[in-house]
Amino acid sequence: MKVARTIAETRSALEDVRDGPIGLVPTMGGLHEGHLSLLRAAREECDTVVMSLFVNPAQFGDEHDLASYPRDEERDLALARDAGVDLVFAPSTEEMYPAGFQTWVEVTEVGSRLEGAFRPGHFRGVATVVLKLFSVVRPDRAYFGQKDAQQVAVIRQMIRDLALDVDLRVLPTVRDDDGLALSSRNALLTTEERKRALALPRALATKDLTAARALLARSNGLDVDYVEVAEFDPPVLAGAVRVGSVRLIDNVALEGDSK
Ligand code: PAF
Repeated sequence: MKVARTIAETRSALEDVRDGPIGLVPTMGGLHEGHLSLLRAAREECDTVVMSLFVNPAQFGDEHDLASYPRDEERDLALARDAGVDLVFAPSTEEMYPAGFQTWVEVTEVGSRLEGAFRPGHFRGVATVVLKLFSVVRPDRAYFGQKDAQQVAVIRQMIRDLALDVDLRVLPTVRDDDGLALSSRNALLTTEERKRALALPRALATKDLTAARALLARSNGLDVDYVEVAEFDPPVLAGAVRVGSVRLIDNVALEGDSK
């Protein structure tokens, strides 16, 4: 497995493999079984698997959130190697946002609701970095988790609007045995907070907006940012809560498959 730190290195490493499909799994590290399921799918479907590893400052509104985001590059690289990744693109912030950077991608409507309303600028940061990753890697397929349903909707819209030649592959949310959706942020929860956080998947599992809101209103020790039905593809019941200093999002599909 090769690790490239620069755009030039990444492009040159991919020069000779363009005759077969290239799959990109964009990550911010803190790899868990959810990421591994994306890497496995990419490994099955593509000749070359690229994983990006970049904690993107542009999608964090809050300095504390950015500073506390789990980082363990050695562990992430070992997991990527075990998953059969061919190339990891792990750039510095300066490589992705050189001095004078001033071009941003805004998916205006899809990106302004729900998470977009609670985290202004978040999806602008996501769309910009994902477009730049697409430009660097030029993947045939890009892999994302349904856990971030609105992120998927934003990227789908961006691909459509900008006529990007990338096949978007969306894989089901992976959950722990207790139902909590896997997230790099779960590592920041205390045992007690984790118990309280379970109210979110339990509420969403009702697949009923009124019941979910009532259940969360009765739950102690968490603050609800929103519980809403979102007309994504597929439509989902989505929610965001804060438990201590950790903010968690989750969703369940309301029709179609069981993502
Ligand atoms: O889902 C994530 O981990 C990030 O939002 C992504 C897609 C890697 C962009 O930074």
